[in-house]
Amino acid sequence: MSRVTQLFIISSLIYLCLGVTIGVFLTIFPNAIGWLLAMHAHTNLLGWISMMIFAVAYHVLPRFSGRQLYSDRLANLHLILSNIGLMGLIISWPLTKYYGISLLQLLLTGSALLYAVAAYMFVYNLWKTVFAKG
Ligand code: HEM
Repeated sequence: MSRVTQLFIISSLIYLCLGVTIGVFLTIFPNAIGWLLAMHAHTNLLGWISMMIFAVAYHVLPRFSGRQLYSDRLANLHLILSNIGLMGLIISWPLTKYYGISLLQLLLTGSALLYAVAAYMFVYNLWKTVFAKG
């Protein structure tokens, strides 16, 4: 198993722990739902679920298609950018909702953009792997 696959699995498991912990916190303090819900939902969906899917896809899809992954460098960049993007999102989201500061809104948008760019890299890399000619 490649290093990038292992690191996506580790990231995913860390986000799962964080996501369910925030979930339990929300059941105890329902008043916090307004500002923590986006953090909880995205830690789970972009962290736990998506990162595990990225790990499995990087491992399985090149094997299914009988090809090498098109670019290990893009996969590494995807790992780094998606983690920075998601950390930025889950930190700035509750702060933006709680304090409503426009500078935080900028951080939120920047983080969202990072995660999106990383996702485009994933799409490009797998597309070039699975649908490569020859
Ligand atoms: C111990 C585990 C978990 C607990 C205790 C928990 C708890 C909660 C709570 C209290 C809410 C707020 C519900 C409300 O608006 O009244 C919520 C929302 C949500 N949770 Fe979790 N959660 C857990 C795990 C997860 C997981 C694993 C996922 C995704 C894979 C997830 C995805 C979501 C989503 C998307 C929402 C927003 C739903 C909406 O607003 O319609 N949760 N959760």
